[in-house]
Amino acid sequence: MNTGLTVDERVGKLLSQMTLTEKVGQMNQINNLGLDHGDVIREGRVGSALYASSATAGNVRDAGVDLDNLNAIQKMAVEQSRLGIPLLFARDVIHGHRTVFPVPIAQASSWCPELVEKAASIAAKEAAANGIRWTFTPMLDICRDPRWGRITEGFGEDPCLCSRLAASAVRGYQGDDLSDPLKIAACAKHFAGYGGAEGGRDYNTTDIGYRSFRDIFLPPFMAAANEGIASIMAAFNEIDGVPALANKHMLTEILRNEWKFDGVLISDWNAVCELIDHGIVQDKREAAFISLMSGLDMDMVSGTFIAELPSLVDEGKLSIEPVDAAVKRILSLKFKLGLFERPFVDKTLGKKVVLTPENRACALALAQKSMVLLKNDGILPLKKDIKRILLTGEFARSRTELFGTWTLDGRSEETGSVEEALSQRLPDGVHMDVHINYPDEIVRMARSTDVVIACIGEHPGRSGEANSIVSLDLPPGQLERLKAIADMGIPIVAVVFAGRPLAINWLSKRAAAVLYAWHPGIEGGRAIAEILFGDVEPGGRLPVTFPRATGQIPIYYNHKPTGRPLPPSLKEYGRYNDCLDQPLYPFGFGLSYTSFTYEKLEIVKNRIGTDDSIEVSCTVTNNGEREGEEVVQFYVRDCVASVTRPVKELKAFRRICLAPGEKRIINFTVPVAELSFTNINMKKTVEPGDFLFWIGPNSMEGLEGSFRVTVDGD
Ligand code: NOJ
Repeated sequence: MNTGLTVDERVGKLLSQMTLTEKVGQMNQINNLGLDHGDVIREGRVGSALYASSATAGNVRDAGVDLDNLNAIQKMAVEQSRLGIPLLFARDVIHGHRTVFPVPIAQASSWCPELVEKAASIAAKEAAANGIRWTFTPMLDICRDPRWGRITEGFGEDPCLCSRLAASAVRGYQGDDLSDPLKIAACAKHFAGYGGAEGGRDYNTTDIGYRSFRDIFLPPFMAAANEGIASIMAAFNEIDGVPALANKHMLTEILRNEWKFDGVLISDWNAVCELIDHGIVQDKREAAFISLMSGLDMDMVSGTFIAELPSLVDEGKLSIEPVDAAVKRILSLKFKLGLFERPFVDKTLGKKVVLTPENRACALALAQKSMVLLKNDGILPLKKDIKRILLTGEFARSRTELFGTWTLDGRSEETGSVEEALSQRLPDGVHMDVHINYPDEIVRMARSTDVVIACIGEHPGRSGEANSIVSLDLPPGQLERLKAIADMGIPIVAVVFAGRPLAINWLSKRAAAVLYAWHPGIEGGRAIAEILFGDVEPGGRLPVTFPRATGQIPIYYNHKPTGRPLPPSLKEYGRYNDCLDQPLYPFGFGLSYTSFTYEKLEIVKNRIGTDDSIEVSCTVTNNGEREGEEVVQFYVRDCVASVTRPVKELKAFRRICLAPGEKRIINFTVPVAELSFTNINMKKTVEPGDFLFWIGPNSMEGLEGSFRVTVDGD
């Protein structure tokens, strides 16, 4: 409908007609809104409906969204409420809808922003066809502690990688124009510091230094805000004594004033009320007041805003301005989404956009590029002389278990197991036995095979929300049978399914190959079969450091130097008496089926002005006999600064594909401004001085060079 008015004008006009209840109604999100909520809908006491089964919906399968029901609810809002304001339907579409993509930590392993964007755009289409125009993703919580189950929902430990993927995901979900009926509003969560939960215990207190908060935890959110994300979700946790929802500094000063974010700020589930449990307010009334005054626009399911804000205003204890400001942002999003023009969902849309061959192809490509080959003694890809395979392990016949947490709409019958995929791909003359149940029988059968493919790891129910663990070891029982097989000298190819880095020290020593598949989604089985037989390479690189043992946590590549660096003779051993210091596998690491060399590191100018850009290059060569993909990574170290700086920081990366023998010069151009950090005066700035840099295949290897940043480049 062309009203000739701008969105702001339409919002203003509508707002001027609204009663206080109708205004606060827009700020109220209800879970499982149904036709039995007729009065609430007609009276305008709800603005958004959430389709989630419970407080920890990511761990549960629900019945899905019934489109007839959704349209009927919308009809009530549009045709029977006084002002006809449409409802905004929301659901956690975290890593795909019906086309289930690899879990986000796996997507991050692809280091492929283009594919992440494409997957998000497919998820948006499928969700929109199912009536959902608002999703609560991407999760941008930097995490350095894999005990925390939600590490699976994020893009890993590094602010640079996470920020790049954040921007891609926002573009994928939202596109250029939210009014496109196949685009949906994204929501960056959980703002902020949630991934820093002490001990990895979900919802726990965080104790993050202000500089780390600014320089490590916030950048991905800023990237999403710069990309025009429509909404942000405030986190459950506190930061330095102030819970996110009561944190005016975070929600208003940083988000609104510094970053100019003008989208909708929603709470997490019931979190407004939970301010009482945090012990900073007496009751719901105070909770509603403080969270609104801190900057919150919408209350997810606690019912506190709708119960308390109207009387606070009526009694003169709260002015109407913050309410109006919040309602404006919510209405503005509804106008931008075109909900006033098209409140209902076209039921025929699903057939055109759901689970198309193109969607599946993207899920397959992303699965292949996200699986990380951590070890290979040469057994992979499987060779022609292999005649007998034993397929075993808990995940060999799994379907839904390959999806990962937060798979609300994927269907078992629409995916294939590893067993099915391998059977279809077996070369002529190769026989495959499959045995899963009885460890003694598995070990007996292993004696007559050439290779054992062991599909092991953790069930998705062990990762995700409210699923923390104290030991990163493989779940009980899995290693024993593998040890028995290894002791007989039978080669093991371990395919590990997990939502987090596990401590796979034993596998890395004794398995012939380790393929880290994460929870790879709907095409995971096929991706694995194609990788094992060498039709494609495993393309992933780690977005998070892999520890040798749980006790090494936290361990991350961009740590700080100390006043007592290790002498070179102790490099490997470090400070532990009982474990090596170094990670098992470093951030950025991953093997491929070919090998690459790095040479001829060059820098255009090694004295660079603060307003200038760093221009570096090196030559990468594919030395092998097959085409291969490499993720070339550019790291920097600020040698002397007013506060301690990380020993290395990723600043740029590029995924390239090289033919056998091909050489290519890889250039990086990075603005010097990206070297900025929160300095001794709490100012985000670049401090002139000396820097080291590296171009290499991961955070521990690479060619080293140096440059100096000066005020004017001389
Ligand atoms: C709680 C989770 O923390 C959040 O990530 C999710 O989006 C909401 N529940 C809604 O289901």
